[in-house]
Amino acid sequence: SERTLVLVKPDGVERGLVGEVIARIERKGLRLAALELRTVSREVAEQHYAEHDGKPFFTSLLDFITSGPVVAAVVEGPRAIAAFRQLAGGTDPVEKATPGSLRGDFAVEVESNLVHGSDSPESAAREIKLWFPSL
Ligand code: GTP
Ligand code: MG
Repeated sequence: SERTLVLVKPDGVERGLVGEVIARIERKGLRLAALELRTVSREVAEQHYAEHDGKPFFTSLLDFITSGPVVAAVVEGPRAIAAFRQLAGGTDPVEKATPGSLRGDFAVEVESNLVHGSDSPESAAREIKLWFPSL
């Protein structure tokens, strides 16, 4: 079994799509190990997205992720990292995410693309430690 860090981003919370995201996670066969509504500090946002520091969209990304509450979750199960990335769909909701995925079904913009999921075991370990240090 594997763990991954999932966020429902501020657009998803604002639009009332938290239940939809959680329902798909559970129907896939994954389970929640932690779940919390959070407002992200600038500091945590910078650490979470440290790999994008220096990119042209970095400041905008930090503004977006701190713009309202997010739902943070640790999701657990067999192949949880890849399984949630499959549920999420590609980063660009129109060009990459396919219908049937969360981004393909519920998002249009590259930045406000509804959800985050860790992209590797190393990222998952780092992000879970950042968001849920007691786990
Ligand atoms: P996350 O699960 O959120 O990490 O998405 P990802 O792994 O599919 O994409 P990536 O880590 O490459 O980018 C992180 C986030 O930055 C994306 O989900 C978008 O919200 C945002 N982002 C990525 N590329 C762009 C871009 O070209 N322009 C803008 N405005 N935002 C971007
Ligand atoms: Mg990423």
